[in-house]
Amino acid sequence: MNREALERVLAEAECLADEARVLAAIDAMGHVIAQDLRELNPLVLTVMTGALIPAGLLLARLHFPLQMDYVHASRYGGATIGSELRWLAKPRTPLAGRHVLLIDDILDTGLTLAAIIAWCREQGAASVRTAVLCEKPDARQPGGLAKADYVGLTIPNRYVFGYGLDYQEYWRNAPGIYAVKGL
Ligand code: IMP
Repeated sequence: MNREALERVLAEAECLADEARVLAAIDAMGHVIAQDLRELNPLVLTVMTGALIPAGLLLARLHFPLQMDYVHASRYGGATIGSELRWLAKPRTPLAGRHVLLIDDILDTGLTLAAIIAWCREQGAASVRTAVLCEKPDARQPGGLAKADYVGLTIPNRYVFGYGLDYQEYWRNAPGIYAVKGL
């Protein structure tokens, strides 16, 4: 897509949550996560690339000792078997005995997070929790993670971009959660 077409995608998109609403949602998530994890020395894993912005904003609101690392994985096309992840990067920090918090951009079918959680458990994590900026309640597929522990915004089952979420690898930097026109 050329620059003009990409500009048009943003101009025509419907803003589902503006910057103030997204930041308020991240504030609220941060409060609850701090209450739950403050004493657990958690290992926070950012699921790249979509969670980069939500994780950065959320982590700066967590004022207690924690460690961070990242995972980069996607599902093999169409496969629904939980463990079939294509790994682009695994965390370097050992997970054994750790309380893990996975941060992702969105809970859609839930299949990717379900597979990453299974992998964390295989590595011996003491517990695994999930935080997502957005949740599409009507999009879950069998075998997918049913619910995240911490949810910022509940949104309709539409294709969205902004705050880390991409439209054709663009507009992860859009300053809100936008639904693509017609999708
Ligand atoms: P899953 O379908 O829950 O396994 O989601 C896997 C990944 O697909 C998410 O982490 C997102 O990166 C991406 N994804 C799902 N829905 C959307 C969307 O509406 N916009 C952009 N990316 C999405």
